[in-house]
Amino acid sequence: MILMHHNKLTSLRTFLLLTTLLCLGLNGCYYDVEEDFKKMVDCNTDGVSYTNDIVPILQNRCYKCHAEGLNLGNVTLEGYDRLKLLVNSGRFLGAIRRDPGFSPMPQNEAMLPDCQIMKISAWIEAGAPNN
Ligand code: HEC
Repeated sequence: MILMHHNKLTSLRTFLLLTTLLCLGLNGCYYDVEEDFKKMVDCNTDGVSYTNDIVPILQNRCYKCHAEGLNLGNVTLEGYDRLKLLVNSGRFLGAIRRDPGFSPMPQNEAMLPDCQIMKISAWIEAGAPNN
């Protein structure tokens, strides 16, 4: 179930307008815009919770290497305080977004789905609360 808040709708419209303008004349671009639009509408990033949203993602995709006691690559993501350090250093988001200069995570596996990355980004933008 998707809740569409007014300001979210407005920013979606602005996004669509801008990308459409940028894309005018480019072959196949309308499909990309439609794809991106669909992703934004389908992903609810309101009120993301550490316990209910972030931990399950890490449990599924990261703890097998970065649980407390495994600590592969000297990285432990289990436990709020340890995760927060990696959030603050930018390494957590850098690794899952696969930004240049960071090791792409999860290692040797498919990237996290867009909506999970959007939820994690929204949580970090909200100050990465222990909620
Ligand atoms: C198969 C094991 C494995 C999995 C699964 C895995 N990692 Fe890693 N990760 C590593 C290893 C090994 C390193 C250290 C070597 C490196 O940086 O490439 C590392 C490094 C990192 C770093 C430091 C990167 C940097 O450039 O500073 C972060 C942050 C990280 N992992 C986060 C994650 C997250 C988040 C997930 C889940 C979405 C994940 N990892 C899944 C093995 C794994």
